[in-house]
Amino acid sequence: MIHAVYPGSFDPITNGHLDIIRRATKIFSKLTVAVLVNPQKKPLLTLHERKQLIRESIQQFDANIVVDSFYGLLVDYAEKINAHAILRGLRAVSDFEFEFQLSLMNQRLNPRINTVYLMASADLTYLSSGLVKEICSLGGDIKDFVPPGAVELLNSKLATDPSQG
Ligand code: PNS
Repeated sequence: MIHAVYPGSFDPITNGHLDIIRRATKIFSKLTVAVLVNPQKKPLLTLHERKQLIRESIQQFDANIVVDSFYGLLVDYAEKINAHAILRGLRAVSDFEFEFQLSLMNQRLNPRINTVYLMASADLTYLSSGLVKEICSLGGDIKDFVPPGAVELLNSKLATDPSQG
């Protein structure tokens, strides 16, 4: 059994993340989607909301997927849950520098755990949680970019009426 951990902020999960998860289930026999608890960042969605959205949106996959959260070093968490690999998605060249650094540092911290990258599908390379939040806060339609539960939640948290000043 090959177990991979797919870490991220998932604030919120997007169709890009779901595409990576769907494709990873064809490669790995177990996948843990792990939401980072980062006290230095102020996410829009609570940890509970982010995990709940992930749980709802992975129901479409008939696969061994666990949703969890972690705090601290990713390699320590991967070791704790007996994951063999870290999975990350790569969208554009702009992602590469950060991901290269992340994977080399994680390799240095724990050489047992390799990082595996899946290229984002071509029609989803432009997608990011940050852009989705910006579009939503400016009144744009985000239903093509995130699962239905996220559309509802983001609209309730972000949609503003500029005339109310
Ligand atoms: O979705 P993101 O924000 O791009 O995910 C980044 C994440 C969670 C993969 C990265 O910030 C991370 O692994 N944080 C955990 C802390 C850690 O291990 N830091 C050292 C990395 S070399």
